Amino acid sequence: GRVAVLMGGTSAEREVSLDSGRNVLAALQARGVDAHAVDGIPALVEALVAKRFDRVFNILHGNKGGGEDGVLQGLCEALGVPVTGSGVLGSALGMDKIRTKQVWLSLGLPTPRYVRLAKGDDVHAAARSLGLPVIVKPSCEGSSVGVSRVFNEADLEAAVALAAAYPGELLMEQLVVGGEYTVGILGDIALPSIRIVPAGEYYDYHAKYQAEDTQYLCPGLEGEAEAGIRALALAAFRAAGCSGWGRVDVMRDAAGNNYLLEVNTAPGMTSHSLVPKAAGQVGIGFEELCWRVLETSLP
Ligand code: DAL
Ligand code: MG
Repeated sequence: GRVAVLMGGTSAEREVSLDSGRNVLAALQARGVDAHAVDGIPALVEALVAKRFDRVFNILHGNKGGGEDGVLQGLCEALGVPVTGSGVLGSALGMDKIRTKQVWLSLGLPTPRYVRLAKGDDVHAAARSLGLPVIVKPSCEGSSVGVSRVFNEADLEAAVALAAAYPGELLMEQLVVGGEYTVGILGDIALPSIRIVPAGEYYDYHAKYQAEDTQYLCPGLEGEAEAGIRALALAAFRAAGCSGWGRVDVMRDAAGNNYLLEVNTAPGMTSHSLVPKAAGQVGIGFEELCWRVLETSLP
């Protein structure tokens, strides 16, 4: 049947999504799939009402306008159109870092301590309760947009103002000093971890998509440590109600303790992105990866 590759949209990650989407579209077409680009949910609704597609490959990132957050997933479910990746619950929960952390904490899964910031809260008291350094982020964004590390109390207000420019709630989290890791999930398995070593200080938007000197080590760990981080990521993914495919981001301190940061239910598929690198490490090329993700839409 015909496949809509849903990309773009109106979120802060629009450009990343278009980049991911073009790659996915080309890969599916190379595999002989009758795949077509669709930009954003309103255009998809029109096409689905006209019965132009039988299946949706969702590569919208972010939440504004609906995409990675359960809105699209509910729409497709209501219309009886299969869509790749997690369903309504996993998508909605995964887009909300605060509530994902609450679920993980309730199950004893490790995640950095945090405070939810509401309007008018005393940000200095919040930072003192966690201890500096902290990281301030919008609860429902991706690709590090609106994220700041704060080492000095004097910088707190600016960090909060930056995060507050995005829709939804804010959180302040203890900054774990150590290594940044990510684990891709494909079907029922955790792919090899990747250790991310940005050339600058942080794996921010620039290091993610523009820099050519970010280093990716895959697998990121060895032996039991590698098995442990993969098992943790898979448990965290399932705990958040996610399925199909995704990516779990993890910080690891110098003592080897893992801390779950978040789950991504429509992870990037750009030339710089992580799931394609991890899949490649186990011999799953980009076309094959896209094919397998498409298969996650099968009922
Ligand atoms: N939010 C970006 C696309 C990612 O997780 O890869
Ligand atoms: Mg994310």
